[in-house]
Order: sequence, then structure tokens, then C-alpha cells
Amino acid sequence: MAASKEDDYKDSFDAEFYLKTYYSSVKSVDGTTEFMLSHYHDIFQTGEITGKRLLDIGTGPAICYVIEQCLRFDQVYLSDFPESNRRALHQWLSNHNFHDYSPFFKHLAKKFSDERTWEDIRDEVAQKLSGILFCDVRSASPLKPSFFPQFDAVTSTFCLHAVPETLGEYRAIVRNVSSLLKPGGWMVEMGHLEETYYTVKDTRYNVLYMNKKDVCKIWTEEGFTIHNWKEYTPVSQERKTYTDWKSIFCMVAKKKNPSEK
Ligand SMILES: C[S@@+](CC[C@H](N)C(=O)[O-])C[C@H]1O[C@@H](n2cnc3c(N)ncnc32)[C@H](O)[C@@H]1O
Repeated sequence: MAASKEDDYKDSFDAEFYLKTYYSSVKSVDGTTEFMLSHYHDIFQTGEITGKRLLDIGTGPAICYVIEQCLRFDQVYLSDFPESNRRALHQWLSNHNFHDYSPFFKHLAKKFSDERTWEDIRDEVAQKLSGILFCDVRSASPLKPSFFPQFDAVTSTFCLHAVPETLGEYRAIVRNVSSLLKPGGWMVEMGHLEETYYTVKDTRYNVLYMNKKDVCKIWTEEGFTIHNWKEYTPVSQERKTYTDWKSIFCMVAKKKNPSEK
């Protein structure tokens, strides 16, 4: 099905299918999910990325990649463009049986060498989630009509490349996202390299083809210092049925203070 991108995300992102297909198991998608969970854990475990308030951009319908953030920050805000995804997030908050995230909570519980059970982790996540917001990264005020003071940290997983059609548009998105972050604040972007599309059920979503050089150049030119870059390239071919990405990247960058520019 080929529809305009905006219509795709606004009207037909199938949150239920997405959750069932991509977030039923820690082992799904060529081991990607396990890599992502572990890498998010390692990034936050360093204790470098700190603060009180964190925003996740383009959360989709799934909380898998905001669990670590909720365990480290006092308030975590989720955001997405289509109503269907924001509704799925609300549904899980009001009824934890809406989607079974226990494999993900259990996986992370093993990584913490304390007394916490997976249910403790689930409850802490639910308690820290402080808002589910409309967001359009193409806008200079992405959270409008909401307004929030700049955040201590921003994370975004598999979203920022899914929106633009050109590198110029990606740069504008980086600028818009940066406006939400305090100077000295941390940005974590995870995404795919050398991808042109992915599918959710019958709908194909175009993705801007990017390599490491493009991503690093644009974030650096927009006032960030890149502190960490990691890539993962699976050997299996499972993903080839619904996407063409080559590898995953994880970038940790710090927004410069005006005096550093
Ligand atoms: C591939 S999904 C990633 C979802 C989730 N972060 C994950 O890792 O599974 C891309 C996400 O980008 C969101 N998105 C699309 N257009 C957007 C826009 N203009 N502003 C903010 N988010 C948008 C979609 O709704 C979708 O949730």
C-alpha cells in the first residue's frame, strides 16, 4: 500500500501489529532488540547521562526502549505523531495486560545486581512516565500545543530517519529536536544505517538512506559533540523480509554550551 507518508503515520500505523511483530520477544528481529536493550543499559550504566527530566521522541506504541530511562530519571515524557501510537501507550499504562512486556523487564532485571524483581521494574516505569505528548519533529516547536522547559536529555529510537526525505530535512529535524534540549544536555539517537524502507503489515514507510558520515556531520555541525558511537550488524537475514537496513547505530552526543561554539 502506497500512501503519502504523513497519511501513513497519521491514519494507518498499525500499533497492534507493530507490537506483536517486533516486540513479542527479546530475541526478535535478528537479535536487534537484545542488542538495543543491552546497549541502552550500558549507556545509562556509565552514570554519565544524568538529570531529572527526559523526553523520548517518536516512542511509537512500545515502551521497550524507554525502560532504562525510567530507571535513571525522575520524569520521563514519551511522544509521537500519530494518535494510534499515543493511545497504545496510554492503554498499557492503564492496563499492563494490554501488551506483555515481561520478557523485556525480566531481561533487564537480570542485568541489575540488586533485589529488584521484574515487577518492581515494571511498576517503576509506569510511575516515572509523566506524560504522553503529541510531537511533530518537522515543526520548529515539535511539542506544540504543549510547552515544556528544555529537557536534561532526549532519546529517540528508529524515528528521526523515518521522517525526512532529504539530508536538508534531517538537519532541520536535528535543529528542532535540539531546541528541546538544554545546553550541556545529552542526546541519544539510535537508528538504522543504509535503510530505505520498512513495512508494518501492508504499509511501506520510506526512510532516509544515511551512513555514519552523514549522521555525525549533521549533529556536529548543529552544535553537538559526539561522545560514543556503536554499530551492530546482524549476520542473519530475517529482517530482509520487511526492511533493507544494513546495521544499527547508537550515538551519544552532548549539546554544546553557547560558550563552547
Ligand atoms: C520505526 S517507528 C519507531 C518507533 C519506536 N521508537 C521503536 O523503536 O519501535 C518510527 C516512529 O516515528 C514516528 N513518527 C513519524 N513521523 C513523525 C513525526 N513527524 N514526528 C514525530 N514522530 C514521528 C512514528 O509514529 C513511529 O512511531
